[in-house]
Amino acid sequence: MAYAAFRSIGAYVPEKILTNDDLSHMVDTTDEWITKRTGIKERHIAADNERTSDMGVKAAALAIERSGIDASKIDMVICATISPDYFCMPSTATIISTKLGLGNATAFDISAACTGFVYTLSIAKAFIESGMKKNVLIVGAEKLSSITDYTDRGTCILFGDGAGAAVISATDNKDEAIIDVHTGADGTYADLLMTPNGGTGSPHDSLDQEAGACFMQMKGNETFKVAVRTLTKDVIEILQENEIESSAIKHFIPHQANYRIIKAVGDALKMTKEQVVVTVAKYGNTSGASIPMAMNDVYEAGELKAGELMLLDAFGGGLTWGSALVPFSPVK
Ligand code: UT7
Repeated sequence: MAYAAFRSIGAYVPEKILTNDDLSHMVDTTDEWITKRTGIKERHIAADNERTSDMGVKAAALAIERSGIDASKIDMVICATISPDYFCMPSTATIISTKLGLGNATAFDISAACTGFVYTLSIAKAFIESGMKKNVLIVGAEKLSSITDYTDRGTCILFGDGAGAAVISATDNKDEAIIDVHTGADGTYADLLMTPNGGTGSPHDSLDQEAGACFMQMKGNETFKVAVRTLTKDVIEILQENEIESSAIKHFIPHQANYRIIKAVGDALKMTKEQVVVTVAKYGNTSGASIPMAMNDVYEAGELKAGELMLLDAFGGGLTWGSALVPFSPVK
């Protein structure tokens, strides 16, 4: 049987920075409120002419280079995004694949909001373990600034842009293998976090467009409570099912939505400060890109070594959630 190994990580962060002070001139908020309630200090915003695929390509090129695997061997590209280049088609994954010159690799997007990267990981694992694919490029890329309402202080303070990517490859060495990936969803909470207009549920018309047809809306406080409850349960379950103690986790890399959520889940697992990766202060919430961007920071700091065990967790619109137990397994 083939196993799936997490070979490499890469990320791209756009240059422009939007600080809490900048936002305090745009909506009725303060640096103090944002810092205290979210832990966010700043977020990066893509240039006007910079598309989600452009950011995805930069992150993916790094991930491929670091994997040591020839680009021609990539046989599938999956992009997790809720801010695609185009609303319906072509998928952002096909654009990324073509810009990278990956030939006719299978390419498609998935929509699982902030859990998107964990979902792509589960798909990559399943395709590799079934023997259908050998080297899967997974990308989380978001230009959330394009679907953010900068008059809504409940959401605009949270989100940022960026991309992260990883190469997952077949191996016959079980010690290198992704141990487990959990994914789940519950549409009964769909109205907590959504882009209500623009789809067949509420088609665009000229009025919608003026009002910002595709902007995100969130019931923040309710989402917060479900996030803490769901994530805590899910990460405890994945550890128990795999008989792994939280002390064995070298890097706990949660989705970076709000420092208070990260802290609550970390505390429930009795994680030390050293185990918990926190990048929310500088990137804000970048949805499907947040976990690989955070992981890339650890990698670039020289702190992600071969064999070290990572625990990932995420929660987002849908509602969706997921977690994963992943040893970092670069090609030796
Ligand atoms: O990534 C996907 C999943 N997303 C999440 O998990 C995000 C979850 N939610 C959150 O992170 C938090 O709920 C928020 C950061 C969005 C809000 O924090 P909160 O502590 O839940 O605040 P709240 O919504 O309960 O609002 C408290 C007060 C309200 O005023 P009143 O009614 O008490 O007078 C809000 O109007 O804070 C007010 N408020 C603000 N004040 C200053 C809301 N947003 C702001 C703001 N600046 N930006």
